[in-house]
Amino acid sequence: KRVAILLSGGGSNMACLVHSMTGDHPARPCLVLSNDPEAGGLKRARDWGIETAAVDHRPFGKDRAAFEAALSEPLRAARPDVICLAGFMRILTADFIAEWKGRMLNIHPSLLPKYRGLHTHARALDAGETEAGCTVHEVIPDLDAGPILGQARVPVMQDDDPATLAARVLTMEHRLYPAVLHSFVLDDRSPVSMDWPPQD
Ligand code: GRF
Repeated sequence: KRVAILLSGGGSNMACLVHSMTGDHPARPCLVLSNDPEAGGLKRARDWGIETAAVDHRPFGKDRAAFEAALSEPLRAARPDVICLAGFMRILTADFIAEWKGRMLNIHPSLLPKYRGLHTHARALDAGETEAGCTVHEVIPDLDAGPILGQARVPVMQDDDPATLAARVLTMEHRLYPAVLHSFVLDDRSPVSMDWPPQD
């Protein structure tokens, strides 16, 4: 199976996904694609010999459809079976999502359906949550709302601030996403559940 990964930043989730796709894993990365030509994840992917592309969203302004038309060119050319959004920070239109329906995953740093959208850790702390985590879900037009494929839980510590909580959740993202992708490419949709502390 061919996996395309979309990112906007450093690509730590991309790195973990890529390094999970080895040996008898049925999938391999076919493209790492970003909306930011300077995204650190692009250089990491290039260093590992993975096909990369970038379509800067800024010249398109508010014209989402035009940006997505440009983004679709390298994406279609890579012939992915699965698309993983991994720290991809652009909202995608229903038309774009429709083309990849049932084949596009996203990781979100909260225990959905709680805390859709941005600034999830600060919001969880402000709400006095004692538990937080991350979710991998299928992408549908509603933001952060598709069928949940897996979740990982972490405790919130007394002295946590958004950065310390984000770091704890990120270590679980790096384990949850590869586990969900593996099940997904084997057509296994049974939910993946992980707890703190990480096993390995
Ligand atoms: C992180 O905030 C992570 O929680 C979210 O995307 C951001 C960047 O991730 N999924 P990455 O290091 O670029 O994968």
